[in-house]
Amino acid sequence: MGEFVPLVKLSIIILACLVVASVYATEYFDLSYSLNNDTIFYPGQKYDFELFKDKKGYTESGYWYAAYSFCMAEHGGTHVDAPFHFSEKGWTLDEIPESHMIDVPATIIDVQNDVFSSPTPDTFTLQVHHILKHETQHGKIPSRSVVLVHTGWSRFWPNKQRYLGFANSTNSTPTLNFPGCSIEAAKWLANERNIVGFGIDTPSVDIGNNGGNLPVHIFLGERQIYNIENVANLHLVINDVIKKGTVCNGVINILRLFVLPIKITGATGGPTRILAYC
Ligand SMILES: *[C@@H]1O[C@H](CO)[C@@H](O)[C@H](O)[C@H]1NC(C)=O
Ligand SMILES: *[C@@H]1O[C@H](CO)[C@@H](O)[C@H](O)[C@H]1NC(C)=O
Repeated sequence: MGEFVPLVKLSIIILACLVVASVYATEYFDLSYSLNNDTIFYPGQKYDFELFKDKKGYTESGYWYAAYSFCMAEHGGTHVDAPFHFSEKGWTLDEIPESHMIDVPATIIDVQNDVFSSPTPDTFTLQVHHILKHETQHGKIPSRSVVLVHTGWSRFWPNKQRYLGFANSTNSTPTLNFPGCSIEAAKWLANERNIVGFGIDTPSVDIGNNGGNLPVHIFLGERQIYNIENVANLHLVINDVIKKGTVCNGVINILRLFVLPIKITGATGGPTRILAYC
């Protein structure tokens, strides 16, 4: 008995340490691209990303001082489209409720194989049957979650020509070519699964070459559902978490997301840090 009690105490201490370690061992996935000269912007906006190194060096008093300015359009790099972008009554970027962005459940629908086995990957659109197939394999998409679509298009980042899929022409208005979401799938996710946000690893939730029509933007905006465009690193989550099944037990639907857009009053969208864990 005298030897047994310290053993129990030791076990409790070890167990407590393991619990603490597992809490702090959470692995975060950064689903945002860094902003720099390579950042790709949706065409037709005024400014690409620019960093001005206004102050950088030792002052006369002898201390180091660095302070920069930056300039950019709202819709470039990894960014959120606020509902107001395509809906007059929609929330602006600063008005999106925190409960739609902080620690929200998230699902990744992986359609990379469908996209790249197609003879024309740039015309691929997510359809309802892709979502249903995903649910059969990974479980029902939780209510009030963010759905992220992995098309595999991020392999072209930051090659602007390939990523935006400019048609090989000398037109001053280049034709865009990249995959996106169908209006049917967007409606299904809003009506049947009550999503709060929709993200994709391409320049836009609507496909590039759609005759200038943006039905998914308009529909989601009217439903107060924000978009995330140019989502990065989804393949890392899929490879590390979902395929190996180590961290999330293979259950894709228990990912959690932090969507943190810059807080600009009245903005239609803006650069966003996105972190995922499970
Ligand atoms: C980015 O581009 C600007 C303007 O062309 C240039 O002055 C700057 O050195 C570039 N920065 C980097 C990190 O390449
Ligand atoms: C356009 O097509 C021509 C002929 O196929 C090719 O040589 C050229 O590299 C292409 N240009 C771009 C920018 O893709």
